[in-house]
Amino acid sequence: MPSAQRIEHVHVKVEELDSAVPFYTDVMGLVEQDRSDGTVYLGCGLDENFDLAVSEGGTGLDHVAVRVESEDEVESYEARLTDEGVDVRRTDGEEPGQGVGVQFETPTGKRVEFVTVEDWAYFHSDEAQDGRLGVTPPDLDHVTLMSPDVQADAEFLRDVVDFKISNVIVAEENDDEWGGAFTRHGVHHHDIAFLGGPPEYSMHHVAWEMESTEQMRMFVDRINQHGQELELGIGRHYVGDSIFSYFWEPGGNRFELAAGVADVDPNAEPGFYTFEEALSAWGPIIPPESFTSEGS
Ligand SMILES: [Fe+2]
Ligand SMILES: [Fe+2]
Repeated sequence: MPSAQRIEHVHVKVEELDSAVPFYTDVMGLVEQDRSDGTVYLGCGLDENFDLAVSEGGTGLDHVAVRVESEDEVESYEARLTDEGVDVRRTDGEEPGQGVGVQFETPTGKRVEFVTVEDWAYFHSDEAQDGRLGVTPPDLDHVTLMSPDVQADAEFLRDVVDFKISNVIVAEENDDEWGGAFTRHGVHHHDIAFLGGPPEYSMHHVAWEMESTEQMRMFVDRINQHGQELELGIGRHYVGDSIFSYFWEPGGNRFELAAGVADVDPNAEPGFYTFEEALSAWGPIIPPESFTSEGS
């Protein structure tokens, strides 16, 4: 049985590195780990691994990676995907700090990767890297993709590469159609989620873990001082149980701050909710139209 590791990094495209990267480093306190071939690798600075890779040219997803423990696991996923007729590509050592890896695409073309990393023990908070701030997230939390076929993407991850489906979002009047799905590779409620959306968008948001709602307040104060406004929040999701807020970062992608995302019993069956039920636990909130119609 494969190990229950979770999200490792995400690679996104940004409109302009020169406006995006200074926001990540100077405002968010992410630490630049490496830079090569037009890609900048940034981490949360509590270990040697990068969490966010960015390259210039549009917006949205390049790929999202989940960590596994061993080369054997990478090889077993590679074999299983190949048996299912899915194209795979080995990415061994291509990224800084990475051991081995394999990439593949979901049915709607979202690129996903399994990787091993060289620094894989635990965070060392007292050895935080230079440049980290008090508001800096401790880790990447999850990525929510935009998909023209949520059910196909989520069931593919479940059936072929061991993800579990934590929750499904359905329309009240038509509960056969999946408007969203939250999938996990371990026990964290979601590592990769999908929301329905126009095919020109690949991503809804990248979510950063917050240590507490107090850290989130300080983070939002800080980005607000630097000209960024929230698109939605602060509120509490019913699905995943987390405290959330959302904003658009200068690179052209939506970021979420997420505090307290739930762990899920490994054997739990997925619950089905409408979007309104899933979005807010504290009572009705009306998101701006952009929240459901726009991605990157
Ligand atoms: Fe990667
Ligand atoms: Fe999220």
